[in-house]
Amino acid sequence: MIKIFKGINELSQYAARTLIEIANKSIEERGRFTAALCGGGTPARIYELLGDQFQNEVDWKHVHFFWGDERCVPVDDPGNNYGQVKISLLDKISIPGENVHRILSELGPEPASKDYAHTLKAFSEPPLAWPRFDLVFLGMGEDGHTASLFPRSLVDTDLPTLAVTAHYQDRPANRVTLTPKVLNSSRNIFFLAAGQAKAVTLGRVLNGEYSPLELPAQRIAPKNGNLTWLIDEEAGSFLK
Ligand code: 6PG
Repeated sequence: MIKIFKGINELSQYAARTLIEIANKSIEERGRFTAALCGGGTPARIYELLGDQFQNEVDWKHVHFFWGDERCVPVDDPGNNYGQVKISLLDKISIPGENVHRILSELGPEPASKDYAHTLKAFSEPPLAWPRFDLVFLGMGEDGHTASLFPRSLVDTDLPTLAVTAHYQDRPANRVTLTPKVLNSSRNIFFLAAGQAKAVTLGRVLNGEYSPLELPAQRIAPKNGNLTWLIDEEAGSFLK
């Protein structure tokens, strides 16, 4: 499904409200809500809204935050995905520390990747060795990457996490990422794409031929879950 919004503010309002709705439904049905968050600029307003306008709309003690990927820089580095969410959301809500499952970026890619796989196992939903996330936010790079699954990276693996090195814009290169295996077992995935700079790639990802090696965003196809694209008019300007 594709939902097109006038701009990033309308998109962010919808995304924040939808996270709250899915969270309350998941808590009612299963006693907890698990979400994997993404980094970058597109979700920033969503996290701010959750920490401000929506902070009293869910019982945060039943919420568990994970990350779809992380850059291996210190948590106080502006490039750290967890650090971004800590400032805009976590520091404003009463979520227990043990419910925030950050990737230990300070360990370096390989050890952090292995540690994160253990964290996922502790929250696994058998037969999976990881949680079946109730909600995943994913962004999409101008090169078609998502999380830290970059073009021409060999990610057909049964491993839940990978240590990767990738050069994208001026962002940190050493990273840890969830793999398509984990992402595609989620209940609800929301792809976020806004701005004219994403339009050509989004047109290729959604309307072009299937070439997941070049366009890793095309690897995201939840087997028993919902995939919804939340885009603005600019990003959608090349869609048929
Ligand atoms: C990251 C993100 C990454 C991001 C895209 C889009 O760690 O950088 O997880 O996958 O979603 O690069 O980033 P923008 O939203 O800034 O365009």
